[in-house]
Amino acid sequence: MIFFIDTAEIDDVKEFYDWGIVDGVTTNPSLIAKSGGNQKEIITKLAEIVDGPISAEVLATDFDGMIKEGSELAKIHQNVVIKVPMTIDGLKATYWFHKNHIRTNVTLVFSANQALLAAKNGASYVSPFIGRLDDIGHTGLELIREIKTIFDNYNFETKILAASIRSTQHVKDVALAGSDVATIPPKLLKQLIKHPLTDIGLEKFLADAKK
Ligand code: G3P
Repeated sequence: MIFFIDTAEIDDVKEFYDWGIVDGVTTNPSLIAKSGGNQKEIITKLAEIVDGPISAEVLATDFDGMIKEGSELAKIHQNVVIKVPMTIDGLKATYWFHKNHIRTNVTLVFSANQALLAAKNGASYVSPFIGRLDDIGHTGLELIREIKTIFDNYNFETKILAASIRSTQHVKDVALAGSDVATIPPKLLKQLIKHPLTDIGLEKFLADAKK
């Protein structure tokens, strides 16, 4: 399973990339704003640290603007993947980028049909936001399962990138459901490693070894 880190904080990316468990990075306008930096500079730095896909989102909402912005972002580094919103213009842009050999991550996906359309247009990744579906009383995980079935039915090459992951349970669930990728916030990556019995067990082993 592929793990991306969902952050625009350079120090976090460095720390977790060193652990060896991070294969790429996803950013979005909220994460970039939170980091206080400039998108182009952040993506450039991320590409120097991580040898893997780095999602950079366009702010334009019209087709021409998305193509212009996305093409500029794609020039930063070959690992940059252009994140476009799941809209009509976003879908058209996905198709254009696909024809021009630029990888895309179609974001803000909340239904299996949206994922299907993105896959038909050659999206490299679709990002179903499972936490935000849970927030409104739906079951985000069910969406991952549905998309998985549809993509398997038709052998789509588009990868399922489970996003809006909020808990360690989410990580386990999307792995069980066969999501290709999970993008995980730094705080959660730390929590994944922890189990109280591991700490207690280690303490006992070390104490016994001293006897
Ligand atoms: O990758 C998208 C993700 O950052 C959204 O997460 O927690 O804002 O719904 P959240």
